[in-house]
Amino acid sequence: MLEAMLAAQVGDDVYDEDETVNALQAKVAAMFGMEDALFCPSGTMTNQIAMRIITEPQDEVICYKGAHIYKYEGGGLAYNSQVSTRTIKVGDGILKPTDVSANINPDNIHYPRTSVAALENSVNRAGGTCYTLQEIADVTQEARKHQLKTHLDGARVFNALVAKGDKAQEYGQHFDTISVCLSKGLGCPIGSLVIGSKALMKKAKRSRKVLGGAMRQVGYLAAAGIYALDHHVERLAEDHQRAKTIADRLTTKSYISNLVPPQTNIVLFDLPNQDIVDRLLAHLKNQGILAGMMDTLTMRFVTHLDFDDDQLTQFLKALDSFEA
Ligand SMILES: Cc1ncc(COP(=O)(O)O)c(C=O)c1O
Repeated sequence: MLEAMLAAQVGDDVYDEDETVNALQAKVAAMFGMEDALFCPSGTMTNQIAMRIITEPQDEVICYKGAHIYKYEGGGLAYNSQVSTRTIKVGDGILKPTDVSANINPDNIHYPRTSVAALENSVNRAGGTCYTLQEIADVTQEARKHQLKTHLDGARVFNALVAKGDKAQEYGQHFDTISVCLSKGLGCPIGSLVIGSKALMKKAKRSRKVLGGAMRQVGYLAAAGIYALDHHVERLAEDHQRAKTIADRLTTKSYISNLVPPQTNIVLFDLPNQDIVDRLLAHLKNQGILAGMMDTLTMRFVTHLDFDDDQLTQFLKALDSFEA
């Protein structure tokens, strides 16, 4: 990847003159069966831009209660797009058609106008659960039946595609906008793209500018993205397998509950109390292993490109040597 970055042809992307960025945008748009794409620094920015260009102030967006766009983007939907959010409580984070239809406001001036159904795939906060293409088709069809626009937060969409054996090409028809990340499972240092029609991407470019996300000789980073798309997608299955191995070992530990069987690269489970949380985090950290807390007692492990089988063996040893 570093070699591909060093060899990149670059130009001024603010003037559309960076041929490597242009190539990445064209590649990703074609991959998802959509017209155009726009390269941005982060997944937060691509989600925020997508929402900005498919809503009007005073609208309402329907999404899962733990959706990144709602929970982890600093209130950006209210700040950047002046919209409210209708959050849906579903255990696995997967919205069904009735979750959409039952949460559309009547056409009445007392209510915000429901204008978007936003999905996330895979669903981070639900433990990396994912939609099948059919589930996506069903829920987005319902949304469109009610004249709603559809957005996909696909920060980890390649994990979902690999897990379900679906084709990116088929996704485009179901969404107005899709955001994808290059810097998570795909292993790039930075980068995300928002994808959609030519007309929407023209608007997206204005939004990116005002957010300060228009960059110049950024082909070096786009080259990393092209490399990752060519070399790091299929291998995500290995991350998923390692996550399953970790989950299998965790289920043998009496102090673990509510483990979500991993569908992708995220392992989520509960611990009984703060003392165990603190001691387990410290024990793992001592051995070079980092875990994150999703809630006070809910821990998350994520497997990735830089976590190999030797590290997995070390990890399992570390887990086995922990005394709850
Ligand atoms: C589901 C999801 N969407 C969007 C993002 C935002 O990406 P970024 O950290 O690049 O802003 C994340 C980050 O973890 C995420 O998990």
